[in-house]
Amino acid sequence: MEKYIIHGGVRLEGSVKISGSKNAALPIFAATLLTDEEVILKNVPQLSDTQTMTLLLRSLGKKVSWDTGSPGRVIIQPELKAGLVVNTKASYEIVKRMRASICVLGPLLTRYSKAEVSLPGGCAFGPRPVDLHISGLRALGADVKLIHGNIVAEAKGLLKNSATGLRRLRGGHVPVMQGRISSVLATDNILSAAVLAEGETCIENAAREPETEDLVNFLKHIGAEITQEIEDPHKEDLFHEGKSISIQRLRVKGVSKLHGGEYTIIPDRIEAGSFMSFAAITGGKLLIQNCEPKHLHAVIQIFEELGLSIQQKSSNELLVKTAGKRLKRLKRLKGIEVSTGPYPLFPTDMQALLMAVAVLAEGDTILEESIYSSRFNHVGELERLGASITLEGNKAYIHGVSALEGARVMASDLRAGAALVAASLAASGKSELRRVYHIKRGYENLLGKLKKLGAKIVLEDG
Ligand code: EPZ
Repeated sequence: MEKYIIHGGVRLEGSVKISGSKNAALPIFAATLLTDEEVILKNVPQLSDTQTMTLLLRSLGKKVSWDTGSPGRVIIQPELKAGLVVNTKASYEIVKRMRASICVLGPLLTRYSKAEVSLPGGCAFGPRPVDLHISGLRALGADVKLIHGNIVAEAKGLLKNSATGLRRLRGGHVPVMQGRISSVLATDNILSAAVLAEGETCIENAAREPETEDLVNFLKHIGAEITQEIEDPHKEDLFHEGKSISIQRLRVKGVSKLHGGEYTIIPDRIEAGSFMSFAAITGGKLLIQNCEPKHLHAVIQIFEELGLSIQQKSSNELLVKTAGKRLKRLKRLKGIEVSTGPYPLFPTDMQALLMAVAVLAEGDTILEESIYSSRFNHVGELERLGASITLEGNKAYIHGVSALEGARVMASDLRAGAALVAASLAASGKSELRRVYHIKRGYENLLGKLKKLGAKIVLEDG
């Protein structure tokens, strides 16, 4: 079993290039099932999750080729001639590895009139229900049943697709997320199903994460007709400053066929935020390149409140540095109060990374997790490094300590793993971080990027 060996106490310095977004790439990969024409995706991160999605698409009849001559460039073509797919079933063996496999459900159902996707299990931070996916597809006329741990869906619309002769879903009003936290992948599934449905679909309170916006832009690029309606335009300015959610509905006019095209995936905002954490916790100075600052307003605000200096150097570069000149003179970051929320608020995927930094901040930091019921598995492992954290319900009270000491720790999920990397980089002495496979799911070449910044980190097997 692979593990990272980290000798902490080194300030990270230099520049790092952010990779394409995992959470944008996965639903866009799935959406290529909607067309029989060639799609070329660029800036795709090479991760175990995008490799799993490659296997899944191949099992469904797509030919997926990663261009070895041009990193991040992926060519996706139908295996057979147009219109035929060998398989509309996403197997448990693949889905159990990656919950995001569920985003093939909507595309398969609307393109081939049927789909069977194994129910994704829970994950390290509690149950991950899929009721919104199911009720959203039912609102489009799908017959959806749970049979032996599988979601079995069929299009029951009376009309047939003129291009394929297959029964279509029927467009309609989808209120399932009204008054709730909008679900990112449920939005993606319902949207992907609607683009080939008969008639018009209106999706209330659709997710507005940049990754879903990237899917909308990709679908429009291959011929889908999607418009965005904002419920309260007065909130839009605050939304774009990262200060307030703003409810949107997506209106989709179903078409019978989509074409191919070439599309570049957006940068990964969570990877960019993770490197801000690595800089903050080691008292370092990083130029974060190939990022998208407009996706990071809430993250930047919080890190500035913690005492980081963050300057935008160009349209896709942020210079991040701590006030302290050297690690031991790191000006103690001050504690703050933060709650995670739907975009553009502080992202749940950054909660563990922020907690790691807060552990060494002056005073107390209060972190509220409002998206998931129990996303605190990293707390126990941070405590093994010397952190002092109290949990009460969905709140974590982090009592700043002056130093951390290396220890043996274990990643429980992707972002918990990244938080333990951050804390180990600041801890004195040697840390061993096991189960790095979690980290490899969502960070492209993290080891190489950290080594280039001066981190003393190696990968060991055993
Ligand atoms: C996406 O997961 C991301 N994953 C997650 O990132 C991210 O944490 C999450 O969105 C929230 O931003 C991918 O994009 C691959 P949700 P998703 O449906 O879509 C509840 C990472 O680290 N819910 O937006 O599965 C759910 O329990 C991963 O990269 C229902 O109740 O999350 C949660 O409380 C981790 N019913 C809330 O909605 C449903 O049918 C938001 O979950 C679906 C979700």
